Order: sequence, then C-alpha cells, then structure tokens
Amino acid sequence: MSITSVSQIRYVIQPGGRLSGTCRVPGDKSISHRSIMFGSLAEGTTHIAGFLEGDDALATLQAFRKMGVNIEGPEAGVVKIQGVGLRGLQKPKGVLDVGNAGTAMRLFMGLLSGQHFEVTLSGDASLTKRPMNRVANPLRDMGVSVETAAGGHPPVTIKANGLVKATDYVMPMASAQVKSCILLAGLYADGETSVVEPAPTRDHTERMLRGFGYPVKTEGNKVSLVGGGKLTATDIDVPADISSAAFYMVGASIAPGSDITLKHVGVNPTRSGIISILRLMGADITLLNRRDVGGEPVADIHVRYTPLKGINIPETLVPLAIDEFPVLFIAAACATGKTILTGAEELRVKESDRIQVMADGLQTLGINAQSTPDGMIIEGGEITGGQVETHDDHRIAMSFTMAALKSTGPITVNNCSHVATSFPSFVALTQQLGISIEEQS
Ligand code: S3P
Repeated sequence: MSITSVSQIRYVIQPGGRLSGTCRVPGDKSISHRSIMFGSLAEGTTHIAGFLEGDDALATLQAFRKMGVNIEGPEAGVVKIQGVGLRGLQKPKGVLDVGNAGTAMRLFMGLLSGQHFEVTLSGDASLTKRPMNRVANPLRDMGVSVETAAGGHPPVTIKANGLVKATDYVMPMASAQVKSCILLAGLYADGETSVVEPAPTRDHTERMLRGFGYPVKTEGNKVSLVGGGKLTATDIDVPADISSAAFYMVGASIAPGSDITLKHVGVNPTRSGIISILRLMGADITLLNRRDVGGEPVADIHVRYTPLKGINIPETLVPLAIDEFPVLFIAAACATGKTILTGAEELRVKESDRIQVMADGLQTLGINAQSTPDGMIIEGGEITGGQVETHDDHRIAMSFTMAALKSTGPITVNNCSHVATSFPSFVALTQQLGISIEEQS
C-alpha cells in the first residue's frame, strides 16, 4: 500500500472484556524517525534494533534512500545504515513524500536547510493541513530560503545553498519538532545555535545527538550546540513506544479485572506524563526493571484495574503527555466526576483537531464532553455503543477502541487505515490482550 493512497477500513468492537497478559508494543515513532535521520547523516555504519515498521518511519527511511543513502532492512525491526556524513546527501529525484508525519516534515526542513540543493517536501491530506510556518519562519531568520503553500501549509520547498546563520530562538510554543528543526539546521550553522523552550518537551534529539558523539548543552530551558561538527555512527535500540503503550495503560485502568505488563517501554521523563496523569486519577501503575538503553530510560509497565476519579490536569504535564490526550479523554469518560484539561491548544493542530474530534465522538457515545479553546471538560458517565469518526487520525481510532471496554453496545470506528502509521500490529495485539475487535473494509 502506498503511503498516500489509503483504502479505508473500520473497526467494529464488541462491548466489555478486560485486558490481561504481557506484550511489547512496536518501537517508538519519534526515536525511529531520528534514528534513520542521524544514522544517515553520521560517518560510519549505524545498526538499529526495535525500529518501528509503520508507514511514517518507513517514509522517512525511503526519503533517505532517495537522497542516496544505502539502508538495509527493516527486517524484524533491524536496520543497517551506511551514513554519508552531514554534507553527503544527494538531491532526490522528485518530491520527498513524508506521508502523515509532522515530525518528519519539520525535522527534514531543518536538516535539508544545510544541504546544497533544492528539495520539495509533501505529505498526505492530513499533513497538508498542518502549520509549517512555526519552522519556516525561524529557518528564514537563519538565512534559509523556504517556500510554503498558502497559509504556511505543505508542500514546502527548501532552496539550500549550504549557508545557515546561527540563531538564538525563543520558541513561542512547547514543541519538540520546532526545537529539533532549529537544532538540526544549527548543525550546519557558523557558530552557536540555541533554542529556549517555554516548557520541557521530548528531548530525544538532544539525547541521540549526544549518542552520535555531538556535544549538546542543556542549561535549564535552553538547549544549544555549535555547528560544524560531525556525527559518528553508533548502535540504537529503540524502546517500545509509550504513546502506543498508552492505549493499553488506559484500557487496563478502566476495565475491571485487567492486569497487564507492557515490556521495554521508553519512560523518558519528557514522555511519561501519561503515567503521572493516570496516577493522579488513581491508577495502579508500577514500573519494573528500570534500566537505561542507549541513553533512553526504559521499564516494564505493570497496570492493574482500579477505579479512576476525575481531576484537573496540571498544565505542566500537558507537553509531557501531548500525544496521549485522546486516550486520556477515554479514561476521563470512565472516571467518577469531572476531568478538566486546559493549556492544550496544541491538540488542535495534530493529525486532526483532537479536541473537537474527541468531543464529538464522546458525545456520540453519550458522554458529556465540552470542548474549550484550549482543552476539554469531561463528566464521567455511561458509554453507549455507536459509530464514531477518526478524521483519519490514528490515535483517535485506537482511543475509541479502548472505550468499548466500558460501553453498553458495540462501537464502530470509521476510517482506521492511519493506525498503520504508528501501530501496524494494533488489531492483532488488541485481540490478544482480550478485546473483541474486527477489522472490516
Ligand atoms: C514529536 C513531537 C510532538 C508530538 C509528535 C512527535 C517529535 O509534536 O506530538 O507526535 O517526535 O518530536 P510537537 O513538537 O508539534 O508538539
């Protein structure tokens, strides 16, 4: 299946059940993208294990092949990359299609700024609606020629001439993609580039650059690096994606009798807001066998059912759980009392407007969910069966699947093809853990 021509499928999930067993969800999407990017730009051979073989990360891999990088695999999560060095990429023939991935587009814009060729990046219908000026504007301030379609949307054309000016950028929003884009452009700049973030965001770029031997300084909320160095190939073990594990963490927390262990999950503190928020709601979550894997903290996560209560979600946790709110809204719908989310306007510019799409779906399922400009107010209650829309957003599809654990009738989730971007084995694993889910085309 091509990444842009998607045949539609729907999930039909029978109500009830519980989750039990042990499993390992696929590799982390953020880390998988970065492993291909940095392995390609390094000098020497990089070996990757645990790579996510989902459409998004595969599109990134193909894009580097189109720029002349020799990449073997993936085979059972193993990839081998012959790095070409920071300046060794070749101009691709035609447009680079990054599919559904905002991460790929924004990080590519940074690293392509330092090359010596013109290149156009595009993506699928969802990506084409997402804002790129948040990276295009600071790149222009670094002297890079960046063109976007109307409204700052993709496609994006970078006309790079190898010249990048260092910058000190104060980010207006908490975004790891923007931070990473500027740092990657900074690798090619003539001095020190720094990014100040308004709140901590995922730091995989900083950790992985250090893993490739590139000095990166973190002082409080400021990250900086000096351009002109080199990346040295290394081996990467990609942890299981906490954003995929999140569906089952919520599923086990809401379905009486559940008891699951999720193996080898990345629990980087800039990603583990889901654990903090569920614990504030009363969830029973234990981290076992904590260890460090190639600079990223990893643990096995044990989750047992316990009744949840509604909370006011602390705004400091929002960037640390930014991709998990669709499924946290399901947890809130199953909790006693009211859950209030504020300070999360970034949810409106994800793969879909996740505030509106989730509010609409929850209302269809009988839940009192009110969207606000920057969040949601959800009153826990009885979930009925019904038919909900994903707006082609993978995380919306997987979140509503978990809702069936507590629904009074079957739930049909329309347009689920995009689940393949981040979690290609979702249906099989979900069945294995105890949910009755059928995929229909
Ligand atoms: C990501 C950063 C986040 C997140 C996305 C992955 C990354 O986006 O939502 O799924 O890999 O850097 P923002 O930087 O837009 O918050």
